[in-house]
Amino acid sequence: MTAPKKLFIKTYGCQMNVYDSERMAEAMGSQGYVATDSPDDADMILLNTCHIREKAAEKVYSELGRYKGLKAAKPDLKIGVAGCVAQAEGEEIMRRQPMVDLVVGPQSYHRLPELTARAQAGEKALDTEFPEEDKFEHLASRPKAKRGPSAFLTVQEGCDKFCAFCVVPYTRGAEVSRPAARILSEARDLVERGVREITLLGQNVNAYHGHERGLGGLIRGLAAIDGLARIRFTTSHPNDMDDDLIAAHGDCEKLMPYLHLPVQAGSDRILKRMNRQHTRDDYFRLIDRLRAVRPDLHLSGDFIVGFPEETDEDFALTLDLIERVEYGSAFSFKYSPRPGTPAAERDQLTEAVKDDRLHRLQALLTRQQRALQDAMVGRVVTVLFEKPGRMTGQMVGKSEYLHAVHVQAEGVSAGDLRRVRIVESGPNSLRGELA
Ligand code: SAH
Ligand code: SF4
Ligand code: F3S
Repeated sequence: MTAPKKLFIKTYGCQMNVYDSERMAEAMGSQGYVATDSPDDADMILLNTCHIREKAAEKVYSELGRYKGLKAAKPDLKIGVAGCVAQAEGEEIMRRQPMVDLVVGPQSYHRLPELTARAQAGEKALDTEFPEEDKFEHLASRPKAKRGPSAFLTVQEGCDKFCAFCVVPYTRGAEVSRPAARILSEARDLVERGVREITLLGQNVNAYHGHERGLGGLIRGLAAIDGLARIRFTTSHPNDMDDDLIAAHGDCEKLMPYLHLPVQAGSDRILKRMNRQHTRDDYFRLIDRLRAVRPDLHLSGDFIVGFPEETDEDFALTLDLIERVEYGSAFSFKYSPRPGTPAAERDQLTEAVKDDRLHRLQALLTRQQRALQDAMVGRVVTVLFEKPGRMTGQMVGKSEYLHAVHVQAEGVSAGDLRRVRIVESGPNSLRGELA
């Protein structure tokens, strides 16, 4: 018997890439590959890449540079590039880095086994098409192995919104939803394998239309699965929060009180130039409706500073929006011009202005985040335990609000849900005691 081949996958970018990497590893498993967590002993290295900002894309080339020695020492080693850089740059990757054997775009992962076979036969294999079929249906079905209590499940992919700064509509293609029946059966399968919490993923997850009642309908369907305790979803666009989905935040117990709802900027002028298709008031009204049904909802957002033509007044309106909303967590970025997007053609602000604004924005967001976290002290939350902590007898898990919570919890295992009283708030996490 020959030893199984080893596959090393390195994942960049969003949670959808994390999910895709899992599925690719499983598909390659049925081709006789086992996962390894080091590139040094791999027979195949696959980089699952992100193109969202310049820095993200450049990481791929520097990582590939590191594999030169490995490839020289082991000529049979195959190197593949998957994900959004693969989609955006295709053949150029092979030109810039001739050691790359395989390039596969996000919609073609079901063709990975065949592409790998071609690479092994010494060919250069490339597939960046947007085929009609559902890639997940053509990937090997998921193995029955036990897994951790929290899992991602992609329900929707692609985006039709075309925000003026964003590459996603080009790298992931048009919005496509997976049929609800398939998602429900994948979810039941995950629950049988030990999963208690599922995070539904989509670039525009609330535009999901694979269920006749949209994402709200799908969530209610999932809530009926015994053994599934928690449901989350990400990432949402404000314009796709329909009535039923808002209502679900009030009446669906398994839907967690945490919502990632990016707004990007707080000035109507910039929102318009970003092609976000809503105003700051639309966003405030939406949040009021959500908080009316779920007053303890923790909100999270994404912000871009230094978008072309953003003035000091525009930026002040972003800070003002943040003050009003009070975010439980947030991600913020300096605008990065991306090839092929409309905003990249406009006059750009200087790096110094972007740096200064990012600094001020992050200071405010950190203060808010910390204040909301500190306000948890004294409260009783429910924690889904995920893994042992650093100290003996300690377990770490997540509260409903996605705060990490450390607890001295002898006898508690990963996957258990327990009531916990929060006793202390640290820089990045909470400490609690079993209630
Ligand atoms: N579909 C999601 C997220 C897309 S990408 C949404 O609509 O919110 C994740 C985040 O990256 C975006 O929310 C945005 O804040 C940021 N981003 C996207 N393109 C960017 C760019 N060119 N420069 C800086 N940040 C960007
Ligand atoms: Fe990008 Fe906008 Fe689509 Fe989000 S909604 S993926 S930011 S184009
Ligand atoms: Fe990056 Fe592609 Fe996700 S560009 S953020 S990996 S959709």
